[in-house]
Amino acid sequence: MDVTNKLILNYNDIPAMPNVMVKALNVIKDEGSGLNDLADVMCYDQALTTQVLKLVNSAYYGFAQQITSINKALPLIGMDQAKNIIITFAMKPMLTSRGGKILWEHSIRAAVGCEYLAKEFRLMDPSEAFVIGFLHDIGKIVLNVKNPAVYKKTVDLVAKGANIIDVENMFFGTNHCDVGFLLAKKWQLPIVVINGIKYHHNPQSSSMSNFAYIVYIADKMAQDIKREVQLDAGIMKNSNIQLDDFNVYREAILAKSEILLASLSR
Ligand SMILES: [Fe+2]
Ligand SMILES: [Fe+2]
Repeated sequence: MDVTNKLILNYNDIPAMPNVMVKALNVIKDEGSGLNDLADVMCYDQALTTQVLKLVNSAYYGFAQQITSINKALPLIGMDQAKNIIITFAMKPMLTSRGGKILWEHSIRAAVGCEYLAKEFRLMDPSEAFVIGFLHDIGKIVLNVKNPAVYKKTVDLVAKGANIIDVENMFFGTNHCDVGFLLAKKWQLPIVVINGIKYHHNPQSSSMSNFAYIVYIADKMAQDIKREVQLDAGIMKNSNIQLDDFNVYREAILAKSEILLASLSR
């Protein structure tokens, strides 16, 4: 068994998918169920209900009237948005406690970026794109849980300019793309999500490359907002997405992300 499999299969502390996320995804997968079933799932989780209502009433959605119940909120935002909100809130404790505030914020920015680019270039369903962006770095959680001290060293080296995949391979014998891929498979996430996680650092190798390129670009845009970033010309040469105004898109995406982050942290 290779290192990545060992990490996922033999490790007791591998994060389980949050319960409410499992239930919500099942409702969404089941074609016969609708918004009422989703509302039922959510009503069992009081904290989730409160957070969803706060978000729906925030500047991010900007509805004119005050929305006071989940039953009223869901028809307004629709099934896809509701799913994304559930995933976001369900994963927040895991992402923040095991990946830190930086990973949480980066995941939200990448999610907003993927949704935005998917809409703009019409290459995939925007709401699915949001989920891929949000979960693209979940492999980092596993590496961090496995050895926080070594992971901290990885982060420090990357901050100094080292290639993250090279450093992870050196320290862990595997990297967050391969680990995230296996975790996403174990969680039985949709195939496009699994693929996006695996190939977000080398989209040119993906069999679903349009999706992988969206995650690759959004991930770059979601890097440390004070830093200038660039797409790799070699990686981008096979892409269907051509961005002449990378920084204009980046600014729009970061601005939108800040609104969502502010609404989520209230
Ligand atoms: Fe990554
Ligand atoms: Fe990332």
